[in-house]
Parts: sequence; structure tokens; C-alpha cells
Amino acid sequence: MNAAIRGVVRLSSLKGFQVSGFERGWGGLITNTHRKLTPRSVGGILQLGGTILYTSRCPEFHTKEGIRKAAETLARNKLDGLVVIGGGGSFRGALELSMATDTKVIGIPATIDNDVFGTDETIGFDTAVNTAVTEIDRIRDTAISHERTFIIEVMGRKRGFLALTIGLTVGAEVIVVPEVEYKIGKILKTLRENAAKGKKSSIIIAAEGIGDTRELAKQIRRRAESEVRISVLGYAQRGGSPTARSRFLANLFASKAVELLAVGQGNKVVGLQKGELTSMELRRSCENEKPFDFHLLRLAEKLST
Ligand code: F6P
Repeated sequence: MNAAIRGVVRLSSLKGFQVSGFERGWGGLITNTHRKLTPRSVGGILQLGGTILYTSRCPEFHTKEGIRKAAETLARNKLDGLVVIGGGGSFRGALELSMATDTKVIGIPATIDNDVFGTDETIGFDTAVNTAVTEIDRIRDTAISHERTFIIEVMGRKRGFLALTIGLTVGAEVIVVPEVEYKIGKILKTLRENAAKGKKSSIIIAAEGIGDTRELAKQIRRRAESEVRISVLGYAQRGGSPTARSRFLANLFASKAVELLAVGQGNKVVGLQKGELTSMELRRSCENEKPFDFHLLRLAEKLST
């Protein structure tokens, strides 16, 4: 997110725009809490995780009154454009706000969940994948030495994009995602077949969106031959210095966002589709579900035999 802020500020300044950053996301827009951002004030933040502007979950923004206050702030500050850096929830908020204001709203997709319709990838996704892979490679050492089965819960909210990419890249024996209802019999069969082939340990990547992973662990523990342990990766996935890929995307998205605002366009979400820098209507992005790549899931299954 910091890389995106830096990009938006510097590219906007080059076009002669003044930029302010609202603190704590929608919260800052409701309370009119913002600070001036200049090319110099965003120096040294490219490599920092999180956001220098802070962020928050803001229940008030989901009310008519919250939207009204936010729109009032935009008008009071005579803002021509608003760049919203966030995920699907932020964009649904941005859509609501766009209907209550003349300010042009542009969304920059940034979420580790990678679940935004209209972009193949979001800022932060690659960073989260790499963080998880580093951790899981370490867990694999224990899995192998102790001949155990590990269930590793990863984030992703209601979707399995993060779990799928992590699972594929750590060579998981099983990947459980919300997009496919899991069958305990099938998981046990895979574990038994692996054991018969001489694989004495397994890594099961489970997306948080499948529900209670402890329940899955309980079911496997009851019938599996090896010991079962569970590890929840948690919030570590959301932090740390962004990877080169995440920074790269942030810079591209920032350039597209500023380009659109400079020609007076709004109510769009920028994205990367098949390697092309694109944009789509905010409403279209909000009203569609990003499709899940079932081929990739099958590929991961084949690769872990
Ligand atoms: O959307 C990013 C994300 O990290 C999800 O993967 C996770 O479900 C959620 O946020 C956690 O939200 P909170 O920080 O409010 O607990």
C-alpha cells in the first residue's frame, strides 16, 4: 500500500495536482482527518509493509450517515479525485460513495486475498504468498522428520486464491478451498495412497474460508495413520516488506489511477489482465465474482503425487 501511495503522490505532483492522504481509510474521510502528502514526504516508504496512513475497519461508513459525512468531506476539501487502495469491501464502499459525490473515485486493488474481479493480481498478494511459503518450508522440515501430517490454515477471507497459490508453490499434498466442498474420504484416500508410495508426511493447505480447520484436523486425526498437527499462519501473512512483484504492481496501478484522474475519468478500478494494465467500471468489479482457476487446483494435485 505504501508503494501505491508513493506512486500516486509523485505521479500526481508531476501533473500539478496537490495530494492529501486520509488517515484510517473511510474513518479519516468521515472525520476529515487528512494530511498533505508531497513527493518528499513519501520518501523512504516503498519498502515498508502496512500503510503510513493507517487503516481501519469502519462500520459507520456502511451507514447512510457515514456515506453522507464522507461525501461532505470530499466537497468541503474541493477534491477532484479520490484514490481508494483496498480490496472488495473497500470498493463496495467506494461504489456507494461514488453515487453520493461528484469527486471521481478510482480503486487500486490491494489485498492479500487476490479476490478482486477485474485484475489477475492485487498488491500484497505476492508478498503474502512468499511469506507463507517461507514459513511452510520450515514447517515441512518438522513434517518430514516427525512423519506428520500438517494442516496449515492460510488467510484469503471467503476465497481460496491465496491457498491455491501457496499450496501449488509449497508442493502441498492437499489443498482445501471454499470453492470446492471437501470430502474427508477423498483427503484420507490421498494421504493413504501417499503413505503406500512411501510418503510419510503431508502438508494440507486449508483456506480460512472453509470454516473451522480444527474440525478438519479432528476428522483426519481420527482416521489417519500419522500424527496430525495444525498451524495457523495468521497475520504474519499481512505484513513485512513487500516483494519486488508487489511493489512493481503498486507502481503500475498508481500510474494508471493518476492517468485516469488526469483525463477526468472516475468510478473505475485499475487492474492487470493477461499482462495488460487495464481498468473497469467500479460497479462491474463489485458486482462480479472473480473466477477460480480449477485447472490450477488439478495441476497442484497432479504435481504432489
Ligand atoms: O482481507 C485481508 C484479510 O487479511 C483476510 O485474509 C482476513 O480474513 C481478514 O483480512 C482479517 O481481517 P481483520 O484484520 O479485520 O481481522
